[in-house]
Amino acid sequence: MPLPEAAERYLAKSFNAVKGASSKISAVVAAHLLAAQSAAGLRGHVAEIGVFEGRFFIALALCVAPGERAIATDVFTWPDEEIAERFLANCRAAGVNMDIVAVQKAATHNLTREGYRQFVGGPLRFLHVDGAHGYDGVLHDLQLAKATLHHQGILCLDDVLHPRYPALTVAVADWLKANPEFALFAVVDRESFASACKFLICRRERFDFHRDALIAAMPEHVMNFRANYFGDEALIISPQAK
Ligand SMILES: C[S@@+](CC[C@H](N)C(=O)[O-])C[C@H]1O[C@@H](n2cnc3c(N)ncnc32)[C@H](O)[C@@H]1O
Repeated sequence: MPLPEAAERYLAKSFNAVKGASSKISAVVAAHLLAAQSAAGLRGHVAEIGVFEGRFFIALALCVAPGERAIATDVFTWPDEEIAERFLANCRAAGVNMDIVAVQKAATHNLTREGYRQFVGGPLRFLHVDGAHGYDGVLHDLQLAKATLHHQGILCLDDVLHPRYPALTVAVADWLKANPEFALFAVVDRESFASACKFLICRRERFDFHRDALIAAMPEHVMNFRANYFGDEALIISPQAK
């Protein structure tokens, strides 16, 4: 499935110039999954909790179809008060249509499920969660995610298995155990210490669709072995070609 031209250009030329923590391969994976969803006729908004300067968000926003929006949530206070301006400037420089961007300056622990759902304004077909990294904060964000995710949508979780955030990994595992209708379909391997693993999760009935879309889009990055996660055989996508 071809990627939108602007997304292809951003990923090839500008991604690493935008300050941030996500790995390029994880953004490429997200773009391919969004392309597969679009080709299958799925419609929905995209969102990120914890956009920072926009590195990953821009890739999502450049993949939306007409009528869809991109929702950016962050406290926008760290490391300084000018970060929201840098986020907006980076989006504009990458050619994001700012009419489809909704910016929410908020700490997610102050948002209720209903409040977040109202701001988002419709089901999300892709949500990247990269805000709070503590146990309770992650569980809260996963509740927001469940309340807003399209039935066929994808939940992408950053920094799972990161040595700095062991409690985040435990929270994700506890949430998956408590929500068995969701399954891990891919793990994106780390690129560096800063750009840690992402977990890709969806409802069980979409498992095969997403797995097959990634195998078709990036066969050279799909490892021959799988990550067995309590019976689910998740793909491992590695930056190193096999
Ligand atoms: C690691 S950075 C995100 C990096 C970004 N996703 C990327 O790919 O470059 C984490 C961001 O989450 C934000 N954040 C942390 N806790 C938050 C919370 N409870 N609600 C909203 N944003 C939060 C921080 O302000 C920071 O910008």
